[in-house]
Amino acid sequence: MRLFASLLTSTLALVQVNAALGSFDASCQSITYTKSGSDIVLAAGCAKSNGTYYWTTISLNSCIGNFNGQLNCGSGYASSCSTCNILNGNNLECQQCKDTSENLKRSVSWLPICIRNEEGTLKCH
Ligand SMILES: *[C@@H]1O[C@H](CO)[C@@H](O)[C@H](O)[C@H]1NC(C)=O
Repeated sequence: MRLFASLLTSTLALVQVNAALGSFDASCQSITYTKSGSDIVLAAGCAKSNGTYYWTTISLNSCIGNFNGQLNCGSGYASSCSTCNILNGNNLECQQCKDTSENLKRSVSWLPICIRNEEGTLKCH
């Protein structure tokens, strides 16, 4: 029970830190994902701190990399991952990301960790 309570506390702290850093899922609306060749483009209306929303887009390939078969913050995943889709809102899932031994791995990355809303503009973390 104490472990659960401390896990919950650290999860809440993490959510607060993400919101403070401008995690886009909390401060953007009308989020869409559009395939563009092997890449995917995220578009959304994102709030500035004064409450005005601005239309902004970012290429997932500029913010997500493939690290030995695992998607994470970086760039260039689209050249070594394939069969990629958006799952459950804001997760990028690729069925096949090459690791350093050329094996194909499935990987999922929660995009708000790697992409933020900075004053109405989407940017990579
Ligand atoms: C928010 O700031 C922008 C300029 O950065 C301005 O054009 C806009 O009118 C402001 N909105 C409000 C509600 O103050």
